Amino acid sequence: MDFIGDKEIHTKSDIPILKASLDGGIDHTHVCGGRARCSTCRVIVTEGVEHSRPRNEKEARLAAVKGFSDDVRLACQTTVEDNIKLRRLVHDYEDIANAINEGRGSVNDAGHEIEATILFSDIRSFTSFSERSLPYDIVHILNRYFDTIGGMIDANKGYIDKYMGDGIMAIFGLDENSNENPSYQAVKAACDMAEALKEFNSYLENRFDHEFRIGIGVHTGKVIVGNLGYRKKKEFTAIGDTVNTASRIESLNKKTGSSILVSQQTFKMVKNDFKWKNKYKSKVKGKTEPVIVYEPDFI
Ligand code: FES
Repeated sequence: MDFIGDKEIHTKSDIPILKASLDGGIDHTHVCGGRARCSTCRVIVTEGVEHSRPRNEKEARLAAVKGFSDDVRLACQTTVEDNIKLRRLVHDYEDIANAINEGRGSVNDAGHEIEATILFSDIRSFTSFSERSLPYDIVHILNRYFDTIGGMIDANKGYIDKYMGDGIMAIFGLDENSNENPSYQAVKAACDMAEALKEFNSYLENRFDHEFRIGIGVHTGKVIVGNLGYRKKKEFTAIGDTVNTASRIESLNKKTGSSILVSQQTFKMVKNDFKWKNKYKSKVKGKTEPVIVYEPDFI
């Protein structure tokens, strides 16, 4: 197999393309672990498509949902009888997010468990600000704010899962093939968000005589990811105790007067990568034991 832009791989004909490329040292994205659920392993066969075996049931289902042409194949499901020339189609985080999102709501993904870091952020006292502002201004300001802090999540390879009014939930660690530390990415994103807020606030101060304060909570653990919801409107998301705890930690900022709080689980993964200024122990809703959280010194 000749991987255009990568290398030539020699393999047996009963080995799926994905396994052959990984064994050959190619950093081939495969977010769902080769279970025909994410499509991030997709390749385009530019020569010799007739040498690839017909789609199996799992691949045929996903290919139909995504609308793949005959030359686009799932590397995790496809084996070939003879030499082919091909190119990987998912290279970076943006490709992964697009691949997962396209056709989402249609994929009957029963969900799977991954280790991830969840980030929640929220604007303090946004309701009172919105009550004294014009609707047009609120939408304009929120969009500008989401652009600013969303860019920081993006730059640190987080996936913006959803907006909840003025809040954001982001997932770090969706690319199971990546060697990067999602806890580091999430805490770095949180610090970058707090830093970027300063510039955003000078704009807000100048034009609206107001400034935002935000609270960010970060927690690492097992989550279930999959497409959830009513069959006509499913959405890719993460659920589980890790998600709930990250949200509770975000709320704790109100009590501690901080902007960013990181759970002990996340802290353990990044303690040498950041400076820290405070440690708190506090009860949170839904937990019998108090949680220990750390505040990074991001200035
Ligand atoms: S690795 Fe997910 S579909 Fe192939």
